[in-house]
Amino acid sequence: MDFVGSHILSVSQFDRAAIERVFEVADEMQPFANRQKVTRVLEGAILGNMFFEPSTRTRVSFGCAWNLLGGEVRETTEVKTSAIAKGESFYDTARVLSGYSDMIVMRHQIEGSVDEFASASRVPVINGGDGSNEHPSQALLDLYTIKKEMAGRGKGVDGLRIALIGDLRYGRAVHSLCRLLSLYDKVHFTLISPEELGLGAEYIDEIRMAGHEVVQSTDMATGISHADILYVTRTQEERFPTQEEADRYKGLFRLNQTVYTENCEPNTVIMHPLPRDSRGDANELDNDLNENPNLAIFRQTDNGVHIRMALFALILDVADQVNQTARDVNWYTAKRF
Ligand code: CP
Repeated sequence: MDFVGSHILSVSQFDRAAIERVFEVADEMQPFANRQKVTRVLEGAILGNMFFEPSTRTRVSFGCAWNLLGGEVRETTEVKTSAIAKGESFYDTARVLSGYSDMIVMRHQIEGSVDEFASASRVPVINGGDGSNEHPSQALLDLYTIKKEMAGRGKGVDGLRIALIGDLRYGRAVHSLCRLLSLYDKVHFTLISPEELGLGAEYIDEIRMAGHEVVQSTDMATGISHADILYVTRTQEERFPTQEEADRYKGLFRLNQTVYTENCEPNTVIMHPLPRDSRGDANELDNDLNENPNLAIFRQTDNGVHIRMALFALILDVADQVNQTARDVNWYTAKRF
């Protein structure tokens, strides 16, 4: 894969060599993300961070990643504050914004919207999530996290046993992660969801065609036993036709410390793309797991900065120059990593 100047729209663009290259550069970004060193390699460059749908971690971590490389960020955070609310097309919006930016990250609720936007952009575009379709950078950071967590247990991604739990129909992070994991060998997928929220047949076919085993279940207790990774997701209520329909599926699968202790092997890793829905009627990942050392959710969010810095550095062809402007930080840095 040639990263330089490329759009990142789907994980289907990646092969294992490309993934390894992203992870290699992500590792090199750690001193900068961890506030030990500063680099100015993107000084003068501008990121258009266009989020037309709610986001906390994707928007802010993309912005931080760009800032940590020395660049400036301009943001839109809602359709109603952009001219799209006045009927402007993705084509016109992309033509305009790509005149102001060196790269654009875009999230929008419509599937395929980021592809349409990218086709008119004069600068590289990264898909920050398009409806229930794809979320490539989330899948890369999830896989990076899985690789690190498994390495700490003396295992790799080949032969992984993963249980994906919750709304697998609308969850774009799940869609992208399944596709990336399909590039590895002999992964065992257990798909735990209400029947109506099962993973789409096109994804299941793709996984099976790549030679992996897929088991579908509505029984969480059985499905999570013997898994290396539990990947929990919330009901994507914003994708349902009505709130009433979404509410029918909330709270059906809840992972808490008791369920974990009774059913899982002691070192099973717990992941979630976040946000988790901590409201009482949902609570798919309970706060009583917060002190469980196998809860990797905040390691995922930290890893997101490394991965997003790596994507920027590779696409703008500065991965080999990051250290040229590096210096130690000269302010107090809290020990948060
Ligand atoms: N995981 C994720 O996409 O989170 P945000 O919606 O907060 O960006």
